[in-house]
Amino acid sequence: MADICITAPRFEAAEALRMALADRGLDVSLGFRPTCHTLVQGGPVTDQAALVELARKLGAKRVVVVRQEAEAWAVTETLGGRILHVDLPAGDDGAALLALADLLASPFSAMVASDPSTAALVSMARRVARFDVSVFINGPTGSGKEVLSRFIHDASPRAEKPFIAINCAAIPENMLEALLFGYEKGAFTGATAPNKGYIRAACGGTLLLDEISELPLGLQAKLLRVLQEKVVTPLGSQTETPVDIRVIATSNRHMASEVAKGTFREDLFYRLNVFPLQTQPLAARPKDIPVLARAMLRRHSAKVPAPLLSDAACAVLLAHDWPGNVRELENVMQRALVLAEGATIGAEHIMLLTGAEPSLPARAA
Ligand SMILES: Nc1ncnc2c1ncn2[C@@H]1O[C@H](COP(=O)(O)OP(=O)(O)OP(=O)(O)O)[C@@H](O)[C@H]1O
Ligand SMILES: [Mg+2]
Repeated sequence: MADICITAPRFEAAEALRMALADRGLDVSLGFRPTCHTLVQGGPVTDQAALVELARKLGAKRVVVVRQEAEAWAVTETLGGRILHVDLPAGDDGAALLALADLLASPFSAMVASDPSTAALVSMARRVARFDVSVFINGPTGSGKEVLSRFIHDASPRAEKPFIAINCAAIPENMLEALLFGYEKGAFTGATAPNKGYIRAACGGTLLLDEISELPLGLQAKLLRVLQEKVVTPLGSQTETPVDIRVIATSNRHMASEVAKGTFREDLFYRLNVFPLQTQPLAARPKDIPVLARAMLRRHSAKVPAPLLSDAACAVLLAHDWPGNVRELENVMQRALVLAEGATIGAEHIMLLTGAEPSLPARAA
């Protein structure tokens, strides 16, 4: 099955669109395939019902009609949302075509990847997802470790089962133990009802242990036992309960140093690090920047379609070094949406915070 079929009798931008979609790792055909997920029709449509019927025959879940030479970039729906109409403005400098490519690609993955290094990471993650092995994701803060974990779960045979994420750094030690392993009624003061705990709640699915390097040593030993024996003993209970979970752990620390310092158990690290993956700093994967910026505009814009990203704005984004990675980019795009009034984000709407403090206008003396 092709991801996207583009039928293009009079659609000049079809090849450029195909290339932009292939860049995003999608399987695109110009012309029909027996089955496809999305049918894209270039040019005006005279018979909407016939188009919907054709989509039904191809098994397409989405039909998108692209009108060229329109007045402005616009996205509308007809037939109760069964057809999406996208207007490409006359004299488009490429911004609208790329926004269309993003829009077409968005249902295929919540994880945006356009840079070759990210595409390679995604393809490795897709492969790892099929095997029931523990995964350790290392990478700087805000670089997408949680997004990648979710992607692995969604691409795994456990996709229909729970995905439970727990941030080991955010919860005090005694609470973390109770929340992870569960407890019986009366196990400690205040335990008025039994609690399943995250490990049992994730049964059949995936447990994400975010910032695992912050897990206290005592709990590391308990977790190791769960992973080795595949059983959990809730607080206040004498009975072991079998558990079937896949664990993904993340950290932004250098784990070998944590092991050398004695703050992280070596045996647990090896248990978790069966398949290591690494997210890269945003500045090291520049081709992701515009695509992620547009994804953030779509995520946070109250308007549909979201404003377009101008080349000038893009150039400012590409010149920045992004110490806060994708999370910082997300904030910058949210600010741009506040600052921009019109349908396009210009360079003047990109407000980067270079120091610890936001740069406020100087007060008059
Ligand atoms: N490839 C991506 N596609 C779409 N959104 C992304 C991508 N990478 C990161 N994000 C977004 O950036 C923000 C930070 O991502 P995430 O929480 O996964 O980072 P992290 O590496 O887990 O950060 P931390 O180390 O601080 O926990 C989130 O809003 C997430 O949705
Ligand atoms: Mg995280």
